Amino acid sequence: MAILKIARMGHPVLRGKAAEIADPGAPEIQRLIADMMATLADAGGAGLAAPQVHQPLRVIIFHIPPEGPPEGADEGADEGAEEATRPPPEPPPAPPEVLINPVIEPEGEEMAMDWEGCLSVPGLRGLVPRFTTIRYRGIDGEGARVERAASGFHARVVQHECDHLDGILYPMRMPDLSLLGFEEELDRYRLVIEAEEPPGEDEAPETGPETGPETAKVAAKRG
Ligand code: NI
Repeated sequence: MAILKIARMGHPVLRGKAAEIADPGAPEIQRLIADMMATLADAGGAGLAAPQVHQPLRVIIFHIPPEGPPEGADEGADEGAEEATRPPPEPPPAPPEVLINPVIEPEGEEMAMDWEGCLSVPGLRGLVPRFTTIRYRGIDGEGARVERAASGFHARVVQHECDHLDGILYPMRMPDLSLLGFEEELDRYRLVIEAEEPPGEDEAPETGPETGPETAKVAAKRG
């Protein structure tokens, strides 16, 4: 396995449409996936798409966030003091999921705003709208067909990585570029707040004045 150089915004490979992979089991594809795994592990982040390592092919890898309690599901049974002491999410130990020739379909039109970063746009974060719930399908690293439903951060990561396959970087999805900034400055000025999950799509916000796009959970996703 090799750690590959990551293309940064401005490189043409990030602007093109990546090609379908005809043979997911081909040795060069398997090697690319292994190298992407090594590269993501080295760089840190939630996911990586092949164009980011200068390969215009339709393959992405991403970490599926650990299953927390479904949003809103636990609140009746588990009321207590955990809110304040809940530890921050830790990187999942499992290897990232591999998805070849992925196809995404939104489930419904609900979208949510949250912060994203990208290994190809280093040092920056922006507030990006994404579909809250999607279905995606494709082929996994062993050549098996996969189809899954995803919501929340999981859905966000998959949408972010799939965008790379079509030449789209997250700033291109932002309706308000004033919310694109350097991580350090956003942290310093607390535009970025490590807070609760954003309210579920059907729920009214629980907290009053500070609830808004700026208080959405900071996932600091880099992909
Ligand atoms: Ni990215």
